[in-house]
Amino acid sequence: MKDIFEKLYDKMGPLGMHADDAHGYFTFPKLEGPIGPRMKFRGVEKLNWSLNNYLGLANHPDVMKADADAAAQFGMAYPMGARMMSGNSDYHEQLEKDLADFIKKPDVILLNYGYQGVLSAIDALVDRHDVIVYDAESHACIIDGLRLHVGKRFVFQHNDIESCEKQLVRATKLAEQTGGGVMVITEGVFGMSGSQGKLKEIVALKEKYNFRLFVDDAHGFGTMGETGAGTGEEQRCMDGIDIYFSTFAKSMAGIGAFIGSEPHVIKFLRYNMRSQIYAKALPMPMVVGSIKRLEMIRTQPEHKEKLWTIVRALQSGLKEAGFNIGVTTTPVTPVLLNGTIPEATHLTFDLRENYNIFCSIVVYPVVPKGVIMLRLIPTAVHTLEDVETTINAFKSIKNKLDIGEYRKDQLATAH
Ligand SMILES: Cc1ncc(COP(=O)(O)O)c(C=O)c1O
Repeated sequence: MKDIFEKLYDKMGPLGMHADDAHGYFTFPKLEGPIGPRMKFRGVEKLNWSLNNYLGLANHPDVMKADADAAAQFGMAYPMGARMMSGNSDYHEQLEKDLADFIKKPDVILLNYGYQGVLSAIDALVDRHDVIVYDAESHACIIDGLRLHVGKRFVFQHNDIESCEKQLVRATKLAEQTGGGVMVITEGVFGMSGSQGKLKEIVALKEKYNFRLFVDDAHGFGTMGETGAGTGEEQRCMDGIDIYFSTFAKSMAGIGAFIGSEPHVIKFLRYNMRSQIYAKALPMPMVVGSIKRLEMIRTQPEHKEKLWTIVRALQSGLKEAGFNIGVTTTPVTPVLLNGTIPEATHLTFDLRENYNIFCSIVVYPVVPKGVIMLRLIPTAVHTLEDVETTINAFKSIKNKLDIGEYRKDQLATAH
């Protein structure tokens, strides 16, 4: 018999296998100083494009004050329990009501975290007779929710409506045999490519097929739509989204998440989502602070307008400079280059150390072999000057990449 721990030495997993070389630099870097477009990394100020602080609310003085006042009044412990047992409050209910009004859904349930919220909602909503149809590029929380599903699931090619319909035909046939129903799961904004889920087209398929639609709009809430109510609003098909999910981890610059739906669905979720029934409620400062953040999103459109000024400048500037930014129609800005993983490492090191630009780097297996993706997240607190500096730096590193500069061995190490 083996010791469970023994295999952990040589089986570190697809990310862990790089830990020794990458830890502290490419992985688990420490960004210090106030949250914003300029933060310190290893003691040196960097222009930072790697935070999902889309609207710049993370350290807005009014947000910081709301959080601090609530912490002073309630502490971080309050409420001491799961909402069902002893952890409910007027504030939790107020935030749910405010969110429901904002996204124009009849009711909302607050979730402690987005990741386990999605997983647990999928677990609660479907049983072994039901069939799930989902996008191939779904976020890990959806994939892990599917792992809990004991019934059948069919995957459709990313954002491919023909493929989605094909799988709906199969799912419908199967559900008719099992006596179950069909749920389609996709995202509002795909966080890597920045493409929008084809929500309107999927909703239109309801005319031919009987299913419920679950949308994870983590990156769309606050950034998309006329009022910032998300990708459903942007595509004018919010009514066709049966389960609307978003997190507070991005535009809301906090922690927590929510689902909006019909009252009887929310009531069912309140009494059946294991991640909420068996876990402590969101702490009061996060709830009171989220009420403030939502009020600002609702009443101060300037944050979203500023975000989009930066998004447009960055994306059009990159395109004019000849960069491939893929198919994004949202703030998420990927820059796609060709190169190997060692080249990607050298390039990122050069960008960080010599140009003082900090952004996320994505390589195989998240993107195809030979592709290096630099992922930029513009925010409302970046400036047009930041955009210009970044595009100039990117031109320079692309040139070095093209002439083989990053193939030289001696260039970079993380330590
Ligand atoms: C698409 C998507 N869904 C869900 C989550 C998880 O949300 P949370 O950070 O609140 O757990 C994330 C990341 O934050 C995400 O990008």
